[in-house]
Amino acid sequence: MAESDHEYSKVDKIIESYSCEKSALIAVLQEIENSYGYLPAWALRHVSEKLKVPMIQVYGVASFYDAFHLTPRGKHLIRVCLGTACYLRGSARVLEGLERELGIKDGETTRDLTFSLQSVRCLGACALAPVMVVGERYFDKMTPTKVRGALKRVRVYGENEKD
Ligand code: FES
Repeated sequence: MAESDHEYSKVDKIIESYSCEKSALIAVLQEIENSYGYLPAWALRHVSEKLKVPMIQVYGVASFYDAFHLTPRGKHLIRVCLGTACYLRGSARVLEGLERELGIKDGETTRDLTFSLQSVRCLGACALAPVMVVGERYFDKMTPTKVRGALKRVRVYGENEKD
């Protein structure tokens, strides 16, 4: 699908704000990631042309850093901690429960772009282990049986519901 002129000019503005400097490649990609939630292929090609950096180099940077994503991500990012404290209290089973419930694997996004699932190492809340975070919202002492209810609450109330 061809991208609209509006989308191209949005990316142009980002590139021009860095004076089309090749050395700003990472910063430019970061801003595109922030705008779209990932790095669309057409945007990578456009960056390559405008900065005169070979596509293979642009793609190399885009795929090297964890901060960049090459596919669209869900509205809600679910992070499940597999750090030691959480792992010992069963977080791997929580992750499996989420994979089953959402029909995706760790690192993937649901087709409807509602949820992305990502395992992480220590969220800095070990006393609450096992921990799952959706956006900024923490779900503590998680178990596989709590997964369905937690997802339902996020679907209904979003990420900012207060306990
Ligand atoms: S190990 Fe899970 S929050 Fe620290």
